[in-house]
Amino acid sequence: MERGKWGSNFGFLLAAVGSAVGLGNIWRFSFLCYKNGGGTFLVPYGLAMLTTGIPLLILEFALGHKMRASAPKSMHAIAHDWEWVGWWPVIFVMFGINVYYVVVIAWCALYMLYSVQSPFPWEGNTETYFYHEFLGLTDGVFDMGHVSLPIVGMTAVLWLVLWFICVRRVERGVEVACKIFMPVLFILTSILVVWGLFLTGAPAGVVQYLKPDWAKLGEVQVWREAFGQMFFSLSLGFGIMIAYASYLPQRTNLVRNAFITAIADGGYSIFAGFAVFSVLGYMAHVKGVGVDSVVKSGPGLCFVVYPEAISKLPAFNSVFGFLFFLTLVLAGLTSAMSIIEAFVAAAVDKFGWGRTKVVTVVCLVACGGSVVFTTGAGLLWLDIVDHFLNSYGLVIVGLLEAILVGWYYRIDHLHFHLSEAKQGRYPMAWDVWWEWSVKFVAPTALAIILAWSVMDEFAAPFGGYPTEALVMIGLGWVIGTFLLSGVFTVFTKHRDRDLASRAD
Ligand code: PHE
Repeated sequence: MERGKWGSNFGFLLAAVGSAVGLGNIWRFSFLCYKNGGGTFLVPYGLAMLTTGIPLLILEFALGHKMRASAPKSMHAIAHDWEWVGWWPVIFVMFGINVYYVVVIAWCALYMLYSVQSPFPWEGNTETYFYHEFLGLTDGVFDMGHVSLPIVGMTAVLWLVLWFICVRRVERGVEVACKIFMPVLFILTSILVVWGLFLTGAPAGVVQYLKPDWAKLGEVQVWREAFGQMFFSLSLGFGIMIAYASYLPQRTNLVRNAFITAIADGGYSIFAGFAVFSVLGYMAHVKGVGVDSVVKSGPGLCFVVYPEAISKLPAFNSVFGFLFFLTLVLAGLTSAMSIIEAFVAAAVDKFGWGRTKVVTVVCLVACGGSVVFTTGAGLLWLDIVDHFLNSYGLVIVGLLEAILVGWYYRIDHLHFHLSEAKQGRYPMAWDVWWEWSVKFVAPTALAIILAWSVMDEFAAPFGGYPTEALVMIGLGWVIGTFLLSGVFTVFTKHRDRDLASRAD
């Protein structure tokens, strides 16, 4: 069966940037800057991008493009026994990260609808509203409480939307969706930034966001967070960029595409930070407190601080709220669809199943999995699964990719492929930079981060959760999906052998 093919290189870029730009860019990046030295944080972030992020992005692009295949088939092509390194990420991102990511998008979509209600349901105390009324948060990981009907309903609607987009071939589904969503996302973000900057107190917020503190460069934790954020943000180690690049035409400039994707992703993060911190500055001004007492990241920022700010805006509160949550929904959806595409590409490539069947089954199963995260313990489960999959899954996959390509498979094959695809050579210095990054810098950085996470795990239980919860849920998810990737690898091996013997 013929594989999908992007309608244009621009369409591919929009999809790759769409995958990279997600909730993390909006609710985490600017907070990390604030916490880790303001503008100075751009130094470790930029270096992380230059020495690990962009080289690995080029690697994933080159691999998918050369093999014309999704992650498992590409890994199989470079090292038969390591096919699971391709399966594992598409499985744990699809049936781990994406399963709760869509629930978070559902929270955003509901808050978007609530923004046009008057009075706002969160009026009075946004924190109590979010945690207790909206989520129905319970006291412990094993006390599931009850499923929230609005959240489950919205989650199902979003899975349906994602199904509707992904069931089509990539150029008619993901590409069309990104061509609509990405420009809208950019316009919305610009509106929020400009609007935010005109609020009183905004400059104080922006100062807190970017005020340089050079001493922070000496703290290793700052570097660790820069690498971690950059890695997650570029959707590296997800198997997504491999699948996306496999739909590019033979002639394409992969290195340039990687630079554009990374710069657009980083640029969007910096830009969105202005919207976040100008509103935080305004909040601090209205409350008569310092910016530091209103700063939060993640769900706390979007569902506690922002709603309060929306209530307190001088005018057009509902419009602002609606636009803000719509921005999050769009940023989230373009990321969520990218991993569905990566998983579906893998299943279609390796099992030869029909696209419609795979997309339908995958969306149904994942939607069922999302239900866990709509219960009263959902936020706690999310926190644990997120921590384990990010700290171990993604980093291990990135590390193995770099080692397998850098040391096992001859990297000059990919060098050669890059020039062949460009139909021209890259300057010698580029080749050296890329090879050194893939062979030495990226594996070293990722290995350090991994070792550090393991040490932290033993030093104190993550997030203060009971050890049995961490082992059962966090480690369980990591190991469960790992075993599944082994099963898939063995299963397709038999299938490949069957096909081969039938061909004889
Ligand atoms: N890059 C995305 C982000 O920053 C991460 C992501 C990709 C999450 C795909 C889910 C699916 O949010």
